[in-house]
Amino acid sequence: MKLQEQFVQSVCFYFKEEGKAWLQKLPDIIKYCEQKWMLKVGEPYHLSINYVAPAKLESGKEVVVKFSIPGVAFLDEVESLRLFNHHGMVQIIDFDRERGIIILEKLTPGYTLATVKNDELACRFAAEVLKKLSISSPNNNRLQTTAIREKSLQATVAENEDGYGPLSSHTLKTALTLFTKLNQSITHYKLLHGDFHHYNVLASGEADWVAIDPKGLLGETEYDVIQFLLNCLPEKEVYEVTSKRVDIFTKGLQLNKERLLLWGYCHTVLATSWSVEGSNYSKPFYQMIEIFERMYKETYDKEIAQYTI
Ligand SMILES: Nc1ncnc2c1ncn2[C@@H]1O[C@H](COP(=O)(O)OP(=O)(O)O)[C@@H](O)[C@H]1O
Ligand SMILES: [Mg+2]
Repeated sequence: MKLQEQFVQSVCFYFKEEGKAWLQKLPDIIKYCEQKWMLKVGEPYHLSINYVAPAKLESGKEVVVKFSIPGVAFLDEVESLRLFNHHGMVQIIDFDRERGIIILEKLTPGYTLATVKNDELACRFAAEVLKKLSISSPNNNRLQTTAIREKSLQATVAENEDGYGPLSSHTLKTALTLFTKLNQSITHYKLLHGDFHHYNVLASGEADWVAIDPKGLLGETEYDVIQFLLNCLPEKEVYEVTSKRVDIFTKGLQLNKERLLLWGYCHTVLATSWSVEGSNYSKPFYQMIEIFERMYKETYDKEIAQYTI
C-alpha cells in the first residue's frame, strides 16, 4: 500500500513508535473496516495525520471513513461528533472504538471554505456554521475545557524560561496570565469545535456549509473563532482584514469583543508555540499576536497586559 509521503512523515513525527506501528497495521485495519461495514474504501484525500477516504457501501451509498490512532483525541472527536448531533456538524454514522475508525456522512460537493475567495463572504458563512454549533455544554461528557489549552502553554513556559522560537519570555508569560484570567472568568460553557478553520468547513448541497473534524472542547464561542482568524490571511492589510473579520463574528454571533481579542492573543501565542514545536514555525501566526495587541489598544485604549476582570 503506497501512502502519501507527508502523511507518513507527520504520523512518525507526532506519534513516534506508536505512529510507525499504526502505519504498519493500517492496511489490515482498512480490510477489517471493509468487511465489518461491507464497503469499499477509495483513494484517500489529502492527508495530515489521519487516513481519510471516501467509501462506498454495498447499497451504493457513499460515505467517508476516517482512521485514527485510537487514543484520547480519537475518543474526543467521536464524543463531540455525537454531542453536536448534526447541528452544523457532519453526521457520524458509526465508529469502532478499539480500531479508531469513524464512518461519516459524505459531504458533497465537499470543497472547503478556503475556496471562497471573497473573505467577507467566507466569514459570514463561517459565522452561520458557528451559530449552529453554538450549543450549551451538555452534562456528563468526557471533553476537557479550554483550561487544557492553558496547561499546554504553561508546559511550554515552564520549559523555556528565556523564550521559545520567536516568542519572548514576556509574551509567553503575558499570554499565560491572561489564559488563566479568562478561563477563571468563564460564566457559561459551550460545546466548542476546538479547531474551527476554513479547511474544516465543507460545502454540503447547493448552499450549505458544514463543519468536520471537531477536536471536542468546552469553553466560550469567542475562543472558537480565533483559529479561523489565523487562517487564509492576505499578504497585505492583515490588520484591516482581521478587523473586518472580528466585526462580522462579533456582530453575527453577538460575542464579547474584548474577550475575543484577549483569547485571540492567548491562543495565537499558543498556536505559534505549537508551530515551533512541530518544526513548522508559522510567521503568519506570529504576526497575528501583534495584530491582536494593536486592535485591543485601539479599541479599549489600554494594553493587553493591563486587562483586569
Ligand atoms: N464527511 C466528509 N465529506 C467529504 N469530505 C470529507 C469528509 N470528512 C473529511 N473529508 C475530507 O478529508 C480531509 C481530511 O479530513 P479531516 O477530518 O479534516 O482530517 P484531519 O483530522 O487529518 O484534518 C478534509 O479536508 C476533506 O477534504
Ligand atoms: Mg482537518
